[in-house]
Amino acid sequence: MKVIKTIREMQKIADLCRKKNLTIGFVPTMGALHKAHIELIKKAKSENDVTVVSIFVNPIQFGPKEDYKKYPRPIQQDLEICRQQKVNFVFHPSVKEMYPNNKILTFVEVTKLQDILCGKYRPGHFRGVATVVTKLFNIVKPHKAYFGEKDYQQLKIIQQMVKDLNFDIKIIPVETIRENNGLACSSRNLYLSEKEYASSPAIYKSLLYCKDLILQKKFSIKSCINKSKKFLDNLLSNVNHKIQYFEIYDENLNPVENNVKKIPAGTKLRIFVAVYIGTTRLIDNIGFSI
Ligand code: PAJ
Repeated sequence: MKVIKTIREMQKIADLCRKKNLTIGFVPTMGALHKAHIELIKKAKSENDVTVVSIFVNPIQFGPKEDYKKYPRPIQQDLEICRQQKVNFVFHPSVKEMYPNNKILTFVEVTKLQDILCGKYRPGHFRGVATVVTKLFNIVKPHKAYFGEKDYQQLKIIQQMVKDLNFDIKIIPVETIRENNGLACSSRNLYLSEKEYASSPAIYKSLLYCKDLILQKKFSIKSCINKSKKFLDNLLSNVNHKIQYFEIYDENLNPVENNVKKIPAGTKLRIFVAVYIGTTRLIDNIGFSI
């Protein structure tokens, strides 16, 4: 495994792979690798000749009051995981390499999709994501790139961007990977205290509860959401918490009809939740057909 620090060298390697007709699978990450990142890497390994993992905590996707400074950076541990998974190249640039003089003037924005759900509470976040992913695509030059459904809005934004800007890259979605207790794996789970961690399975439980309510077809979407928020508040009553949003869209992030009986059979729905447990912001979502 080779660790690449410069854009030029990564591009040269990508060009060489392509010249040799080797396919490049790419897993962009911010490091603090866990079980879910490993699943993405395994999938990339199984479908490509060469696998590249990027590890870069991208400053421009964090708001001024967010956790950029304290985001975990266990780089030696991450490299060991990549080595064990037989990753071919880890692209690990400095902030200076990616943003010389701390300044770029060009940004990628996926309008509409960037304004709902997390985008409403994290202004500029998805612009930062779309911009860095564009840069990484131009550096790693992958044939396929792997994104988790845990960050479903991010996945849809990248898919839209690839379509709108004609990137010749196949985006491969990977299902949400969970801890044994149901909590979606996340680098931010490391921030949780023991007590907070113990109550965190409530998030996934509330999504399943909401799905059940919808499938009963007895309540409106609004009423299912309100009941599920109450359910979640109750399960989290022994820890400091705040539900930021609990919303339902179809699989393409279009709003859905409030009257459940009017939603055409076979429609794919997604329930999304964002909640602060203590000071840690966690998100999750599930998909199902009605
Ligand atoms: P990061 O949070 O490190 O996630 C890297 C990839 O792992 C993303 O595609 C994310 O959706 C996926 N992932 C994380 N937790 C997951 C889980 N529990 N199940 C399935 N997939 C999961 O997402 C980012 O980094 C950044 O925004 C990035 C795309 C790298 C741009 O900076």
